[in-house]
Amino acid sequence: MEATGAGAPEPALPAGFLWGAATSAHQVEGDNIHADWWEAELAEQVPYRSGEACRHLERYPQDIRLLASVGLNAYRFSVEWARLQPHPDSWDHGHLRRYVHMAHLCRENGVTPLVTLNHFTLPAWLARRGGWLSREAPAAFAAYAARVVAAMGDAVGLYATVNEPIILALQAYLEGLWPPGQRRLATAVAVARQLARAHRVAYSAVRTVRPQAAVGAVKQMVHFRPLRPHALGDSLLTQAVRRSFNEAWLDSVADVLDWIGVNYYTVMHCGWQQGRPVRSESRQALRARTDMGWEVHPAGLHRVLHSLARFGRPIYITENGIATADDEWRCRFLRAHLRQAARAIADGLDLRGYFHWSLLDNFEWAQGYRMRFGLVEVDRATQERRPRPSLHYLGAMARANAVLRRCLPGVALADRA
Ligand code: FCB
Repeated sequence: MEATGAGAPEPALPAGFLWGAATSAHQVEGDNIHADWWEAELAEQVPYRSGEACRHLERYPQDIRLLASVGLNAYRFSVEWARLQPHPDSWDHGHLRRYVHMAHLCRENGVTPLVTLNHFTLPAWLARRGGWLSREAPAAFAAYAARVVAAMGDAVGLYATVNEPIILALQAYLEGLWPPGQRRLATAVAVARQLARAHRVAYSAVRTVRPQAAVGAVKQMVHFRPLRPHALGDSLLTQAVRRSFNEAWLDSVADVLDWIGVNYYTVMHCGWQQGRPVRSESRQALRARTDMGWEVHPAGLHRVLHSLARFGRPIYITENGIATADDEWRCRFLRAHLRQAARAIADGLDLRGYFHWSLLDNFEWAQGYRMRFGLVEVDRATQERRPRPSLHYLGAMARANAVLRRCLPGVALADRA
């Protein structure tokens, strides 16, 4: 379904703005047999198996061409360390050539690649040695990164080292939901620190191999608000949570960031109940939630973008999306968030791109295939790609380089998200 009728342009975005979609290797490639996540799936330490995922390793030419055909000009994908270095002393040149081809294919189709060097998963051999907690991990990561970047050459100019370090530390080492399933605050803190070290050494390694590359890290940012805006305790708690979740990690690597990647999905309300700190759901219950249970709050994107102004670095929205099969809701979500992005640019922030999560319906870590984040629906039985109207809508905005009101032919979107 093609979105005809461009609609009255709202704020135009700066020339060269990147309009894209994002994926990560384990979530779309399939048969990621040398990764720690794959082993955890087989051992039933996590509830779902990724299996063949979206067969993106074979189908990426079709997927990249589809993304480009609607007018998108950027693609964020990740390179799988476990595939390239399946054993400590082996290196898979064939797979590396495939990733290099992915980047070249992007270029041939007018698409700027943004390559994430690590999106949660680790080689299983490294996980057995302690994963990010092992002393050798940062240096091993930097060595792997250097090899990837050397092979990519001038096809790739934008690299992200790690994805959502705090989420990984919390989910895998405090909540115990992701491999290796640990539950210890001190360990989670240690992992966050190791990820900062890993970013630091990988940053230097990438810039040494390729001084022209712009190297950033991708950080999940939540919009934290006090449960009761006028309660001092709630406000103080909110500030403390904001500081430790959103800010501390970025501060620790602020001198080695060429750009900052923001993953923005939701708002959380912090406050005290019966003398205990809570991350309350009470207000959210009154409002629509996505299939992930997340409250949609577009204005929070504007707030978190502003909170990054002090770093004085270019910003990319590296993820923003909604788990729902209701694609009209996805269109409203897109418009509402992109209006906030445009507002931030009008305020003077150096926001250079927007990558929607996700290009494809894919394997969601602890929820399996139930979550539909895709601009493109994927038939799980046949792997057929079925572009949703939201793909065409985002493409139409990319072509106009503006946030458009009209999504489907003749349908003006309501302003609410
Ligand atoms: C982010 C992850 C991404 C995806 C989305 C829904 O935390 O970076 O892989 O799972 O959430």
